[in-house]
Formats: sequence, structure tokens, C-alpha cells
Amino acid sequence: MPRVLSGIQPTADSFHLGNYLGALRNWVSMQDTHDCFYMVVDLHAITVPTDPEVLRSRTRASYAQLLALGIDPELSTLFVQSQVPEHAELGWVMQCLTGFGEASRMTQFKDKSSREGAESASVGLFTYPILQAADILVYRADEVPVGEDQRQHLELTRDLAQRFNGRFGETLVVPKAHIVKDTARVVDLQDPTSKMSKSTPTGCVFLLDEPKVIEKKIKRAVTDSVGEVRHDPEGQPGVANLLSVIAALSDRSVEDVTAEFAGGGYGPLKTAAADCVVAFAQPFAARVAELLADPAELDRVMDAGSQRARMAAAPTVADVYGKVGLRRPV
Ligand code: TRP
Repeated sequence: MPRVLSGIQPTADSFHLGNYLGALRNWVSMQDTHDCFYMVVDLHAITVPTDPEVLRSRTRASYAQLLALGIDPELSTLFVQSQVPEHAELGWVMQCLTGFGEASRMTQFKDKSSREGAESASVGLFTYPILQAADILVYRADEVPVGEDQRQHLELTRDLAQRFNGRFGETLVVPKAHIVKDTARVVDLQDPTSKMSKSTPTGCVFLLDEPKVIEKKIKRAVTDSVGEVRHDPEGQPGVANLLSVIAALSDRSVEDVTAEFAGGGYGPLKTAAADCVVAFAQPFAARVAELLADPAELDRVMDAGSQRARMAAAPTVADVYGKVGLRRPV
């Protein structure tokens, strides 16, 4: 089976509907067809100032949520990035292979650093994409399921793998981006022209929100002045969003769901959307609470995942070290 690797940052207390329908749902289903490596990327989270206790609890909560969503730690290798030192080891070698100008062209760094003020941005934020490349290359992953926003980082990863192989001989697998087609690109409930994001909490449904909060957010979702349900993502993006959320969560086609609500008002559509989301979120939240209530067992699963990840990562680092003239003790 081809190997996939992906990661998610522990930067919120809860994943949101966009994370789930846009990416994580696909992580779960890829387990049937791929050898999957999934991780919580806490080393990437500290590229911006982060409170230690908040980071610790979000890392655990993220891991528990991945389990609750259906990532099976027997089928997949599910781990926490910082518990696998090989990422940092390969990361350094990759940094030494990356041109300063090349790193300077990464648009996500430019966006993020200009938001924070370029002077105060950390060097870690600058080298973020190179650590990401190491994350992928250290497992010799064939495919990387990521969103469109990560395309440039994937290109860098491929360039670095090819450069290493060209300079030192065939060693690394050149991975392919598996850009998740936005079957369900969930948009912000308050601003349906932009992607759902945790930075606008009123427009974002967190999977661990209380049912009442979920209902309220969806009832207040911005629609339009057409006043009638149709599937028109351009002209009626808010309505189209609710239709595709219902479709995705109930495993139906958007056409089918649209036919059910077509011509009607927005009230029943919102009620149905809220019902679908709550029906998904409630058992999910209960499962997460159960997992977090047994910290020793959660630690055991996390440690086992990290051990398994290290077994896969260590030979690559040993190989790479040998090729560049370093030696990694066994
Ligand atoms: N940069 C990715 C994001 O923000 C997270 C990430 C880190 C990642 N390392 C990775 C994704 C390796 C895929 C593969 O979404």
C-alpha cells in the first residue's frame, strides 16, 4: 500500500467542521487503502509564541480527537511530532540544503510574518516549511494529503528530495501532493466568501461546541436576500454551504439534498443543518471526554505511536547521515 503522511497543528482546543469535512474525514477513509502516518505537529505550533500549558493540553486534545474521529492506532501510525526526534535531525540537514532565497519565497511565511510584524517573526517560522519537508521525507511518504494552501510547501519538499538524491545518490522518496478536492469546502458562517477558520469564532463551528452553541451559530448563519433554497455557490454561497454540510454529514449527494429543500425558505434548511452537525458532534464529544478522562491510557497509546513512528523514521536519518558524511550511532 502506498504510504501517506499528514499533520495537523494543535492550535485550538477543538477541531472545527472545516478541518473535519475538508481534511480529517479523508484521513480516516485513507486508512483502508494506504499505509498511514498521521501526527499532531506541536513543533510547528511553537513557531509562534505559545503558552506551554495550553500547548500541552491542546496536543493531547488533538490526539484524542483524531482517535475519536476514527483514526485507528493499530491500522495507522498516529503520533506526536516532538516525540520523534528524527524530524528535528533530518530538519537540520534539510535546512543546510535549502537556499536562503528559496526559503524567502514561501508565501505563507510572508503572510504570517507580515501579520505579526516581520521583525518579531521567529526564525522557526521562517524555516517552518523545511521542517515540514523533513516530516514527510523522513517516512519516505508517497503521498501527502493537504489543502491547496500547502501546495508550495509540497513543491519545496519535492525539490529538496530531488536535490538530495541528485547530490548524494538515490535516498529519499519524492512525494506527491494529494490535494484534497474540496468536496466539502466549508465556508465561514458569517462570511461565506472565506474558508471556515477558527479566527472568526462566530462563523466557525467547533466539533466540541455545546449543541446549543452549534444551533445558535448555524441559525445565525449569513444567507442572502434571494429567499429561496437553490444550489448556487456563486450567488448564494451561504445556502450552498449549508447544503453541502448536510450532504457530507449524511452521506448524500448535494443534488439530493438540494432537491429536498428546493424552493423552501432558509429556516428548515438551517434546522436540518444544525441537526446533522449536532448528531455528529454529540457522540464525538462524548468519546473525546472519555479518552481524556484516562490520561494514563492516552499516554500509553501516544507513546506506542511515537515508538512505531521512530522505527520508520530512524533508518532514513541513519541513511541520510551516512550519505552526507555524518554518523548516527545505532
Ligand atoms: N503545515 C501544515 C498545515 O498547516 C501542517 C503540517 C506540518 C503538515 N507538517 C506536515 C502537513 C507534513 C502535511 C505533512 O496544515
